[in-house]
Formats: sequence, structure tokens, C-alpha cells
Amino acid sequence: MTEEKHQTVDIFGKKKSVLITNVVADAKPVDIFIDASETITDIGHDIRKRHRGEAEFIIDGDGALALPGLANTHTHAAMSLLRGYADDMVLQDWLSQKIWPLEAHLTADDVYWGTKLACLEMIRTGTTAFNDMYFFMESAAKAVDESGIRALLCYGFIDLGDAAKREHECKATEDLVAHIKKLKNPRIRAAAGPHAPYTVSPEGLKWCAEFAKSEDIPLHIHLSETEKEVNDCVAQHGKRPAALLDACGVLTPKTIAAHGCWLDDGECALLGKRGVSVSHNPASNMKLATHRALPYQTLAAAGANVCLGTDGCASNNNLDMFEEMKIAALLQKFFWNDPTVLPAPAALAMATANGAKALGFGTGTLAAGAPADLILVSARTACNTPLHNAASNLVYACSGAAVETTICAGRVLMLDREIPGEHAVLAGAADAAKDLVKRAQDA
Ligand code: NI
Repeated sequence: MTEEKHQTVDIFGKKKSVLITNVVADAKPVDIFIDASETITDIGHDIRKRHRGEAEFIIDGDGALALPGLANTHTHAAMSLLRGYADDMVLQDWLSQKIWPLEAHLTADDVYWGTKLACLEMIRTGTTAFNDMYFFMESAAKAVDESGIRALLCYGFIDLGDAAKREHECKATEDLVAHIKKLKNPRIRAAAGPHAPYTVSPEGLKWCAEFAKSEDIPLHIHLSETEKEVNDCVAQHGKRPAALLDACGVLTPKTIAAHGCWLDDGECALLGKRGVSVSHNPASNMKLATHRALPYQTLAAAGANVCLGTDGCASNNNLDMFEEMKIAALLQKFFWNDPTVLPAPAALAMATANGAKALGFGTGTLAAGAPADLILVSARTACNTPLHNAASNLVYACSGAAVETTICAGRVLMLDREIPGEHAVLAGAADAAKDLVKRAQDA
């Protein structure tokens, strides 16, 4: 560690120009310069000479691996309050006996603290953008705004075929989109969020598709997580879920569909043809035993944008995208019985470029002119020693604990593993979680 790392300038969350020296990107030694415009101004070998004079802050990377900030394309961030509350149960029992009864007592304040905790965990483990579906999303937006990272936020629209409920859900969706527009924060965007084909009627799905189109915003949905929902869909609608969504206008290049465990070849072809992003959630799928892995190769070959997500903390139980990359690569090899499926560079691309493409913030690359969303992964740690192959270490050896610095939109959010205000967030979230469980038990 050099003395350059110990400058006294207060850098956290500030709009300051930053010069990062001695890092490795795409196997090449580089320096990175970020000016106050929130974009990477310059990246290349030894560019420190050009920028040392103008940089307000210098970070000596000490050989760290520089990566674009990771993108988590399927979360329910505030479910971090439910971490460890109920595990090792059958999916329907887990939902109906544990998760839904507790969620019935959730308040806006709980969602604020749960999302604060999730953002903190994401910053610590190198995620700078996420795709979130939940309730009380105005509170989630406040937490994201304060955290400094990016998020695509949607209200989880569930009408269960009930026209009155549908009207309420349409209004809630419109209100959230209007609220997020008013924030005028380029790090926070809105999406339409029909929960799933089994919880939203075709009328509701069509409304969400048309609303997303008229607002020019993405659409976030769960798709074919379990075999039962596929069978029920065929019995009820006479078509498989992807075909039903297509008939309702839901499948577009701005659609992010989570899980996709039970897609058949025809559905993969359809999703590819429509340019849909499909979020693989391997830890959640394995924990809840969905009995089938997302058909990664078929989807990728069909042209779908396959990305990666953790799902909520009740079914994972963390938001570490490094772990998720490894679990994705292992599950794909194991389930399809082929060790060549999903090699490390492809798993890394799912968490970076593909995820960024799905979220639409223009992030996901380290290049001059790109948004300054980047992380530094320590090279002075066991998981990166030796460093034969960076992608291999990042996917198979490291966890998010190896991330030492996180920068989003040009603002330093974590430096040398220090995140200002961390203890207050941990205390507030722990209190909110305790209170939530007490309210549910007293009811
Ligand atoms: Ni989910």
C-alpha cells in the first residue's frame, strides 16, 4: 500500500476526478482516469503521466483486477430482511407458511431498510446495478438514491385474475413510474413488473406490455421457475408460458425474464427471436429444488441475452454475484452433464456485459466514454494467487470478499473495503427485521 492511498481528501460519494493506477484490465496493465463527468475519460498503459496533475484523488490499485461493476438482473432487495428466516422447505410451503405471512406485515420503512442493507451488500461484493421487483418501491428508490448504485425498479403486479385488483395494480404501477420520473436521478429507472404468468391474468399481462411500450421502459417478469406452473399454464391457456407471454405482447428486447428453468426448445427459440434477456438464478433454483437448470446453451444459441441474478435473499441467501457466477457455471456443467458448458469467460460476461445490456444503463465495459462503474478485485489475496487466468480466478476461486473498491457513476462508494455509514445501515436493518418478525408473531 503506498502513501497515495492515504490522502486526506474526503472522496466517498463525491464528484471528484479520480486516477486509478496499477490495475489490470483484460490481462493488460492499465491506469484509469475518471473526471467529474461520471464517465471513464481515459484508460490505457501508463496514462498516469497525462492525468496526475489534474486528478483530485489517486488510488494505487496495487495490481488489482479492474472489472465493470457487476449487474444483478433479478432481485427482491428488501427480502434481505428475511435472510435466514425460513430455509430447507418445499417451495409452496415455504411461500404460503413462511414468506407470504411475514410479507403481509411489511411496511414502507421495512422496504427502505431492507433495500439499504441489500445495496450495502452489493457495494461490498462488487455489484453496481440491479433489477428489483417488490412492494413499497418509493422506499426502495430512496434507499437506492442514498446508496449511490443503480437500479431498475418495478412494482410486483399481481391480479390473480381479479378485475378490481387489476385496476389497483395498474394504478400502483403508474404511480411508481411517475414517482421515479420525478426523481430525475439517472441512476434510478422504472420498469413494468407483471409478477408471473401464473399470478397475472392475460388482461394484466397485456396492460403491462402496452404500458411499458408507451412509457418506453423495460419489463421484468418471472418465467417458468417450476414445472407445475408450466403444466398449469398449458391446462389453463392451452399454451406454454413463453407463448402466452408472446401472445400478450410481453416479449421484447426490453424484457427481462427471470429463472427460465423449464423452457423447452421452442420457447428458447422464441425468446431468442424476440431478443429477450433471460436472468439465470442458479442458487435460488438449487435451494428451492426446481429440478431443472435453465437451458443456457439452447438460449444463448437462439440469440437470447442470458444474464445472471441472485433472486431475493430468502432463497439464496446472499447477493454475492461472484458466488452466483461460480454456481451458474457448476450447475450448468452438472445438470447438462458436460464440463465444457458455460466456461468462466462466459459466466463473467453474464454478470457484466450481458447484465448491463439487460438493465440498459450503458454500463458493462471499461472504455473511454463508458460510464465510470467499476470495481477493483484484490490481486494480493489467496484467491488471485497465482494469477494464471483472471476469468478463472474471478469465477471459480474468488468471492465478493475479494472486492476492495467499488465505484459507480464516477463516485467512490467503497475504498479499501471501507464503506462509510455501514454500521448505521446494519443496525437499522437488524432492528427492522426483528420488529417485522415480532409484528407477524403478535398478529
Ligand atoms: Ni424472484
